[in-house]
Amino acid sequence: MYAADLLADQTILVTGGGSGLGKAMVLRFAELGANIGVLGRRTAPLEATCAEVRAMGRKAAWASTDVRDADAVDAAFTQIEDELGPLTGLVNNAAGNFLAPSEDLSARAFDAVVRIVLHGSFHCTQAFGKRCIARGTGGSVLSITTTYAWMGSAFVLPSACAKSGVHVMTRSLAVEWATYGIRLNSIAPGPFPTEGAFSRLMPKGIEEEAKKGIPLQRFGEPPELANLAVYLMSPGAAYVTGENVTIDGGEWLKKGQEFSSFTDYPRDQLKQMLSSMKPKKG
Ligand code: COA
Repeated sequence: MYAADLLADQTILVTGGGSGLGKAMVLRFAELGANIGVLGRRTAPLEATCAEVRAMGRKAAWASTDVRDADAVDAAFTQIEDELGPLTGLVNNAAGNFLAPSEDLSARAFDAVVRIVLHGSFHCTQAFGKRCIARGTGGSVLSITTTYAWMGSAFVLPSACAKSGVHVMTRSLAVEWATYGIRLNSIAPGPFPTEGAFSRLMPKGIEEEAKKGIPLQRFGEPPELANLAVYLMSPGAAYVTGENVTIDGGEWLKKGQEFSSFTDYPRDQLKQMLSSMKPKKG
């Protein structure tokens, strides 16, 4: 659906680009000619993704970094630009999330998700923006949010608070940084069956029931999201900024709040179900 060299002039950094939707975007960007930087915590998936990108004939570089650490993010951007040259685009894709009753959340649990999603997206956006501003080149930032960023949702409170912050950051900076030629947009996905998301957000055995809540009666496929990301990062979207595009098969319009139907389960049963999804310590 796109010209084969659509992104040939671009160098795009994708946070959390070693797996899931991040990797799907990376591979599609590279297929269309972009050089790729990936940033994440786990080294092995980053290295493997870079190897795949290089096998496609593009340049690739990775940095192992926790987006919660502003100084480490800045150093990672310098390292990646030293290897690839100036970045033209950033995708804020790295996230943290889990289902939990809010009254049982520890302060550290709330903090972990908000710092990854909101602070992490800010750290990366600022590291990218200040480099584009200094160079006078402009650039494009795409943030992956969620359909409950504007509605809120039960049982994912830290993520809802953080993603709504990213939604508002996108709209604020779209105006503030337009003068520098920097565009900022977001994509709000509904359910896409990746290991990272479904192990945390889709309790076992409810997939078929979940599909019934989606007007298009199926989950999304990662290449569908990747193609939307390509459009927003491409020169064809030069006049699109401050916008959010939802890709959810119509789910949020039908259901309103993503996880709120869990209130239909007896609360004790629900708590047992959610606590069995929590990783064991150590
Ligand atoms: N329910 C309730 N609390 C949870 C939880 C769950 N399912 N999972 C983690 N927590 C709590 C921990 O118990 C801890 O709090 P405590 O020290 O008060 O007990 C706190 O969250 C931090 O957890 P920890 O594992 O030490 O933090 P981390 O920084 O290594 O991990 C997370 C961050 C919790 C977001 C982890 O799920 C993660 O790394 N996720 C990244 C991938 C991801 O979530 N992708 C989202 C795809 S949609």
